[in-house]
Parts: sequence; structure tokens; C-alpha cells
Amino acid sequence: MSATGDFRISGLQFPDGFTFGAASAAYQIEGAATEDGRGASIWDTFSHTPGKVANGDTGDVAVEFYHRVDEDLDLIKSLHLSAYRFSIAWPRIIPAGIGEVNEAGLAFYERVVDGLIARGIDPVVTLYHWDLPQPLEDRGGWTNRETSYAFARYARVVGERLGDRVAVWTTLNEPWCSAYLGYASGEHAPGHRSELEALQAVHHLNLAHGLALIELREVVTRPDAKFSVTNCLATAYAADPANPEDVDAKRQIEALQNRAFTDPQLRGFYPPDLLEDTKHITDWSFVRDGDVQLINQPIDILGINYYCTGTARRGPEHSTEGTPYPGATRVEAVEQPGPYTDMGWNIAPHGLYDLLVATHEAYPEFDIMIMENGAAYRDQVVEHNGVKRVHDPERVDFLLRHFAAAHRAIKAGVPLTGYFVWSLMDNFEWAFGYAKRFGIVHVDYETQERTKKDSALWYANLAETGVIPEQLAGGILSSPGRN
Ligand code: FCB
Repeated sequence: MSATGDFRISGLQFPDGFTFGAASAAYQIEGAATEDGRGASIWDTFSHTPGKVANGDTGDVAVEFYHRVDEDLDLIKSLHLSAYRFSIAWPRIIPAGIGEVNEAGLAFYERVVDGLIARGIDPVVTLYHWDLPQPLEDRGGWTNRETSYAFARYARVVGERLGDRVAVWTTLNEPWCSAYLGYASGEHAPGHRSELEALQAVHHLNLAHGLALIELREVVTRPDAKFSVTNCLATAYAADPANPEDVDAKRQIEALQNRAFTDPQLRGFYPPDLLEDTKHITDWSFVRDGDVQLINQPIDILGINYYCTGTARRGPEHSTEGTPYPGATRVEAVEQPGPYTDMGWNIAPHGLYDLLVATHEAYPEFDIMIMENGAAYRDQVVEHNGVKRVHDPERVDFLLRHFAAAHRAIKAGVPLTGYFVWSLMDNFEWAFGYAKRFGIVHVDYETQERTKKDSALWYANLAETGVIPEQLAGGILSSPGRN
């Protein structure tokens, strides 16, 4: 490979116009849970239910983004980021999910969008990052088709207000999590454990995506606005690629986690093998005539979130009740080799490369953006001569290797146009509460003080120059381990 030579000459240069961003989500950062007319979401209910979230943590206060917008947007600007991905809380816009629109909610996000634009940062909006209005859950949540139509109306309301300014729209964040963790394994809100409900949720989330895009395209007026969806696609390997049984186990995981979403969204059908694998759970009759056409709306960007890899092998028959894999009754997960982050997730930059290449091969007509990638570590603030610092060499190394993998994918022809680090700041990490720190900016949860970690300084340099310097690029090439 001549790549080594390239790196020695110039380092890793990202293409002009490449988007360097950071990402967040409303419930994880905003706080102000009962202010200015915000309704309750399933995450308010879930986090206030004893035993559901580590340490009894909730998003009631979070990192107070709601009250620190200007300070935090200045922080983003100081990191030279060209885009910021944040989510809109549906319960701030339409507190009951249906019915009355809350002007204060729209005004809040208008401030965020205008504040970003004033600082030269592109607003990238996620419409659904898991905070379903509780009154909709009370009517069945994502098991109820009406929720998809309620979501489409909410999308239209937001599009009417912000459609002249938002640069990129992404309808759903990781519907895999909403459906399977929310309704099958119960690890996430609303905490149900029903395989049938999870598969109904898959379909109604997909339908919500399509219906919302139809509405958005009618009202968005920014001429260069882009439309997307963000899936958390499994990077799955077969334990023994030469063993057809293991290959079939991998196929089952990909059907459930990836193609259950990408095939209807991007191709207009549900994978026949998925329907077959899950036929003991449902006949999928909740998919009505014409639904897949509604789901299959044109998009511009395929958003992917990547954290780690998975390996599957054929195992003995077992029940999948309470797992996030409805129907995968003979599949076993193989433990991934380390090293691991503080989440216990394996660090595998080659997985990002493989995922990007495979996704592009399967869906060649779309630009791709990495909407999330990052790592949790146990960061500590230290003070040198009165200056606070957070040394997080593992996160710097993690980002370096993953950006290098993304760069390799670009060189291999993948139309990757942007990369959002998860996350801008430490925040409420769902069922783990505040115990897991993903930020490149540290937050002291007592004082709400923000301190840039070394990774933020490293990333700011990359975002400003578009280059990973030769010295660092050379370092990762020659270091041991799987890059
Ligand atoms: C993703 C979520 C995001 C964050 C990261 C660590 O699955 O979309 O909100 O929790 O994981």
C-alpha cells in the first residue's frame, strides 16, 4: 500500500468542505424538564421509575443546555466545528404529542438555530432522539400506528418554523434502540418486554420516518437543505466465515438491526428473510398496503452511528424473550477482543471502515455522514497552576484511529461528507445516567462548569485544519493492534 508514503508527505487530509461536527440529544443535555410548557416524555417517566437508571439519575437538570445556550454555542464555535447536531424535544413542541403547539418550545429551538447560524455553524436537527411524549405512550406509543401520523405533524410544525434555516434534517436517531431496547429488552423507555411490540415499533418508526419526510419536503424552503435518517447499523462478523451456520447467524443480526430499517427506508420493502425469521412472533399484518411506498422517500444523506463491532455464531435454540433480538433464536454473540472503553464496548476502528465500505456498496447512491462516534472514559479534572485540564489520551487515541479509518474509507471511494463526534459535552447517558462520560468537554455536575478535555483541543485542531498531522498519522500506522 502506498498510503504510508502519502501520510509521510502530508498527513491525512480530509476533503474540502468536509463537515467536522459534534452531536448531542435534547433529553441528555437540556434539563429544564418542566419549564416553558414542556410536556413529559417517556424518558421522564422511565428515569423517575426506581431501578431503571443507574444511581436514580434523571434528565431533570442534565447539563442545563436550556439555560446555557449562548455559552455552549460559543464553546462549539471555539472548537472550530462547522456543524452541530442536536435534537428537538417533541414534548417541548407539542406537549401532548397531538393537539396544541407550544410556542415557547419553537422559540427555544429558533434561538439555538439562529445562534448557530450567527456563529457560522450549520444546524443539523434530529427530530426524534427517543423522547416520545408520554401521552402518546399511554395510547400504545410506537406500537400504535397513530404515533407515526402524530410524528409527521410534529415534523411539519418544526419544518414550517425552521425550514428556511436548518442545513440537515435527520428524522429518527437509531430506531433500532427505540424499538428493541424500548419494547423488547426493556433497557430503555418505555421499558416493555414484548417481541411483538418491538416489531410493531420497527414498522411504525419506519412509517413515521417516511411520513415526516413527505411533510418536511413540503415546507422546508432552504434551497440546499438535506434530508437524512440516522441508523445504528451493526458491524457484524461471522465467528467462522467459512461456516455457513455462522454466516447465517450474522445474516439474522443484520436483518434485525440493519435491513429491517434500511430496506424499507431506502429500497421500499421488508427483507423476506426477516419476515421468515420472525414469523413465530407475527405475520407482520400491521404493515398495510402502500406503507412501504410511504416509508421509501428520497433522502440525500444516510446517517450512521458507529461505536463497536459484533460477532455472531450459530448457537443452541434459546428463547429471545427479554433480549433485543426478537426471533434470533439460534444466534450467540461472541465476545469481542479488547481493548474496551468505559462502556465495555470494544475499540475497533477497522469496524468503522468495514461498515462504511459495506454501507456504500449496499446503497451506493447516498452520501454518508457519521452522525455519532465517540467513547466514554473515566475522566478527571486536574489543576496546574490554577488552570483546569482534563487529560484523556485514550479518547484522543480513539478519535485519531476512527478518523483515520474514516479517511481510509474516503480514499476507498466512500462518499463520506461529515463526522459528528459523540458528544460535545458529558451528559445523561440513558440507562447509565451520569456515570459514563462521552464528552470532549467535561462537565462538573455540581457547578455545571465546562472544561475542554485534551480531546476537544485535539479535535479543534483537526476541525480547523482538516488535517491529521503526519506525525500522528505515522504513529497510528506503526503502532500495534488493529487500526
Ligand atoms: C447512541 C445514542 C446516543 C448516545 C450514544 C453513546 O446509541 O444515540 O444518544 O447515548 O449512543
